[in-house]
Amino acid sequence: MEKKLDLILEKAIKAIDGSETLKELESIRVKYLGKKGEVTNILKNMGSLPNEMKPIIGKKGNITRNKIEGKLKKYKKILEEKQLEEQLRQENIDVTIPGIRRERGHQHPISKMIDELSEIFIGMGFMVAEGPEIETVYNNFDALNSPEDHPSRSYSDTFYINDELLLRTQTSPVQIRTMIDQEPPIKIISPGRCFRFDELDATHSPMFHQIEGLVIDENITMADLKGTLDLIAKRVFGEQTKTKFRPHDFPFTEPSAEVDVTCFKCGGDGCRFCSGNGWIEILGCGMVHPNVLEECGIDSEKYSGFAFGMGIDRITMLKYEIDDIRILFENDVRFLKQF
Ligand code: DAH
Repeated sequence: MEKKLDLILEKAIKAIDGSETLKELESIRVKYLGKKGEVTNILKNMGSLPNEMKPIIGKKGNITRNKIEGKLKKYKKILEEKQLEEQLRQENIDVTIPGIRRERGHQHPISKMIDELSEIFIGMGFMVAEGPEIETVYNNFDALNSPEDHPSRSYSDTFYINDELLLRTQTSPVQIRTMIDQEPPIKIISPGRCFRFDELDATHSPMFHQIEGLVIDENITMADLKGTLDLIAKRVFGEQTKTKFRPHDFPFTEPSAEVDVTCFKCGGDGCRFCSGNGWIEILGCGMVHPNVLEECGIDSEKYSGFAFGMGIDRITMLKYEIDDIRILFENDVRFLKQF
C-alpha cells in the first residue's frame, strides 16, 4: 500500500508537470483527489486495513494528498500567468502601423446655396419656416387657388400618393401652413425639396429645390414687392445687378410677375450662361390673391402681402458653372469634392 501511494504521487507529479492548460490541471485534481480519486479511495478504504497499518497508511495518504495539492496550486498559478500573458499578447496594439485617414465630409453645393440665401433673408428680418415634402392636395393646390382644371394638377405632372396626398410640386404650400398658424405680420422664407413628373435631362430633374417667400402685413403694396426683390437680387448676385419684372400668371397671386436679373457672369452683355440675351430668370412672384388670404382666415380687407418662389438648382448651377443638373444628384464623390 505504501508503494502504491509512492507510485500515485510519482504519476500525479508527472501529469502536473506535463499539463498545459487549467482544464487539464483540473482533470488531474479530480483523478487523484476528487470524490472518487485514487488517493481519496485509499483513505476512504482504510477501515479494511489491519490495525497496525492504519496510522502508517493514514499518515502517508495525507502527505501524498498534501504534496499533490501543493504542486497543483503552484502549477495553477504558473498556468494562469501564462494565460494572461497570451491574452495580452493577442490584444496588443501595434502603435507603429499607419492609421486610416478618414476623409472629412462637407456641404453639398445645393445646401451651401440654401444656407447662403437663408443668411441673406435672415439678415433682412425673414424667419425660416419648414413644411413637409409629402403634402396634402389641399395645401399644394386648393388653398393656393389653383383651379380644378389647372394643368399642374394633372397626373402626368404631379406625383400623387392618393386622392389626398402628393409629393409637393412647389414650396408654396408652406405659405398656407404659415398663414393658418400665425397672425400677421408674417415674414418668412421656406427652402426645400419639390417634385414634379419631369423627364430627367441636363436641365430638368423630377426632384429640385425652391425657396418660398411670404410677407403679409397691413398696407403692403406692389412697390414693397418690387423694392424687396430688387434688394434681394442685389444681395444675392451683387450690387450692380438690375431686375426686370415681366407680367405672368400664377393662381395664388394677382398681379403676378416673373423676375429676371442681369446675368451675373457677363453683367448683361450676353454670354453662354444667359443664352446670349443678358438676362436670367430667377423667380416667380406676385401680390397674394385675396382668395388665398381668406382661405387661411386672414382678412383681405385689412391685410395684403406678396410672395415669391425662387428655383435654387439653376442658380447653383450658374454660380458654380455646372452645366448638367444630373451630376448634382448623382453624389459622385469626385464631383462633390470640388466644392
Ligand atoms: N410656386 C411657383 C412655381 O413653382 C413659384 C411661385 C410663383 C411662388 C409666384 C410664389 C409666387 O410664391 O408668388 O412655379
